[in-house]
Amino acid sequence: MARILTGITSSGKPHLGNILGAILPGIELSEQKNNESLFFIADLHSIISVKDAALVKEHTKAIAAAWLAFGFNTDNNIFYRQSRIPEVTELTWYLNCHTPFPMLQNAHAFKEKSNKLADVNAGLFTYPVLMASDILMYDANIVPVGKDQQQHLEMTRDIARSFNHYYNEEIFVLPEAKIDEEVMTVPGTDGQKMSKSYGNTIDVFLPEKQLRKNVMRIVTDSTPLEEPKNPDTCNVFALYKLLASPARVEEMRNNYKGGNYGYGTAKQELYEVILEKYAKERALFNELMNNPDTIESKLLQGEEKAREIGIHVLKRVRKVLGFNR
Ligand code: TRP
Repeated sequence: MARILTGITSSGKPHLGNILGAILPGIELSEQKNNESLFFIADLHSIISVKDAALVKEHTKAIAAAWLAFGFNTDNNIFYRQSRIPEVTELTWYLNCHTPFPMLQNAHAFKEKSNKLADVNAGLFTYPVLMASDILMYDANIVPVGKDQQQHLEMTRDIARSFNHYYNEEIFVLPEAKIDEEVMTVPGTDGQKMSKSYGNTIDVFLPEKQLRKNVMRIVTDSTPLEEPKNPDTCNVFALYKLLASPARVEEMRNNYKGGNYGYGTAKQELYEVILEKYAKERALFNELMNNPDTIESKLLQGEEKAREIGIHVLKRVRKVLGFNR
């Protein structure tokens, strides 16, 4: 049996990057025979950037609704909020004390974010250690993540390996990252990686009018309408490629090259493909958001199961540290 685990932070609403990078590949793995999946909402991670309880709750609900709308089977798997198993923060402390300071200083994500954000707190710095705890506490084997999380997974493995080595015992399972090469990075409306922290997301669950506006915001160059355009450097095309059928992608490619085809038309086509492709999920998402009790009961059910696994692993750690009761 392989145990699959992944999380999405609730620092923003669920967006296309989450769907293509975590939700869909995660659900696909969860449906394979002999796999058991733990999918959670990383609400503890979210307070690094969002200090607003109501907002974090709202995002948490929306991310949970997104997982459910895309068909995650919570009866056969484990679905929970990170903060509901607070023992993960206990494990984080133990791992903090076994994590070399320079390892964290070298994290790309920290370097990049600490240059951009106004609030550079210690949580941002130790973020990868909490992430390592998320993974190691549940003996996860496979972690589907976006390319930007690869280094964090390597850190998790390094921390686990050196802990096991130090105590000369197989306390932690070494997890493997699973990175979908095709959707390595989903570009945002500005061409950077789509991320809540860059404010460049596409929210496929928005009402039609707002969704259209969201798509129309995608940045393009200023090639005039009648001139041929390069599809391979265009954000609209890059997103279209991830969603439309190969035949339609080919058609758009030819339209770009032929000229007399404007970015506005390309955006309209992208908007339409989103509506078409995610019609069922959009309806289900709205239904769930109007029935928060359904979401809540599924999350509660998962907490029990997650705690059972997590406590077990934590006991092994407490024991070698001499903190067993
Ligand atoms: N850091 C991840 C992200 O921003 C979210 C996350 C937190 C996560 N803990 C995790 C992903 C554990 C996988 C496993 O996308």
